[in-house]
Amino acid sequence: MSQAIRTLVALDEGVDREALQAMLPVDPEIQIVGVVDGLEDSWTTLQETPTDLLVVACPGYSDRALFLVDGAVKQRPERPVVVFCEGSANGFVQRVFEAGADDLLMLPQESESILFALRKAVARRHGASAATGVAVSPMICVLGPKGGTGKTLTSCNLAVSLAQSGHRVAVVDLDLQFGDVGLALGLAPERTLYELAKSGGSLDDEKLDGYLATHPSGARALIAPTRPDHAGVVTTEFLREVYAALRTSHEYVIVDTPPGFTPEVIASIDSSSHVCMVGMLDSLSLKNTKLGFETLELMGYDPDRMRLVLNRADSRVGITHDDVVSIIGRKPDVLVPSDRDIPRSVNQGTPIVVSKSRSDAAKAFRSLAALYQVPDPSRNGRRRGWRRKR
Ligand SMILES: Nc1ncnc2c1ncn2[C@@H]1O[C@H](COP(=O)(O)OP(=O)(O)O)[C@@H](O)[C@H]1O
Ligand SMILES: [Mg+2]
Repeated sequence: MSQAIRTLVALDEGVDREALQAMLPVDPEIQIVGVVDGLEDSWTTLQETPTDLLVVACPGYSDRALFLVDGAVKQRPERPVVVFCEGSANGFVQRVFEAGADDLLMLPQESESILFALRKAVARRHGASAATGVAVSPMICVLGPKGGTGKTLTSCNLAVSLAQSGHRVAVVDLDLQFGDVGLALGLAPERTLYELAKSGGSLDDEKLDGYLATHPSGARALIAPTRPDHAGVVTTEFLREVYAALRTSHEYVIVDTPPGFTPEVIASIDSSSHVCMVGMLDSLSLKNTKLGFETLELMGYDPDRMRLVLNRADSRVGITHDDVVSIIGRKPDVLVPSDRDIPRSVNQGTPIVVSKSRSDAAKAFRSLAALYQVPDPSRNGRRRGWRRKR
């Protein structure tokens, strides 16, 4: 991400908050997203706040700090962790590195040295993932300010379009209470995110495979729980694990979301490589779409990785496309027309790109899919895009 490094600072009991804050670098490259007292509260904040770097400050040897470092590294191995320690800490250094931290700094330090250490930790992690040669597949989070704008329609048609082009695609239904990806794709909810979350144990490709329904196009789907009261078992921590696993075994991961920025949606945005905002052509929806983009920018999301789909874009409602650009501040990437065949296709459980593949709506979804397909120079066959890790 080209933006500042979003850094969360977790303070263990006994750390001098003021002294620490005075040492933190003031630099456009580092954005301190929070300085949280207590490591348990820090863990909770970490779940809810998009963070590129975690700093754990402790007064000396601290099992709590080791526990937090270990949890944070297991949860997101690509996110660097730096530990600050105020006092002498025999045996602690080794434990800190065993827990997976990237660096340990003894305090006090000059802000300059802290800035250098934080930069180095981030550079090392990024270098490490580049060096392993594992291309992490794109994950596209489909967002929309309210219900009924066409998020599920877009997610399913995008997923099936990519599958039709020969890609391995997984779509995750994050509308945990009222998800309808299964219905829209005509898939029976035999096993859902709920059963997967309840199953416990570690996630690997083989296990995950057993919970993915398969659409005739080849697209795979992780269906939402069938009952609203089952949504609670799906935690943000679990979702991050699911996404990481899906991204190693699929070329694209598409996440269909409920309206609004719930903690699950924020965690998904944070894990994603791209977002696709779906708005409709009415002034309320446009205003909310603009708010959605503003929220993403506040979260530090790279604007180049955001797309806008304008659904029902031909409605004669007295709003021109120029109005859209002046309200939202960006041009829609794809316009999807209203089409009577769309509700029919939803009812039949057959996406419009399959049921009416030559319609303008189907073409619009294929053009959306094309925006995410990057030619891979190492392949000269039909299939394009990111390659699966073997
Ligand atoms: N372009 C369109 N033309 C006709 N009907 C549409 C169109 N977009 C959405 N709909 C209708 O609106 C319903 C809601 O869309 P959906 O994708 O489920 O919204 P969301 O997921 O944002 O709540 C769909 O089932 C479909 O019947
Ligand atoms: Mg929906």
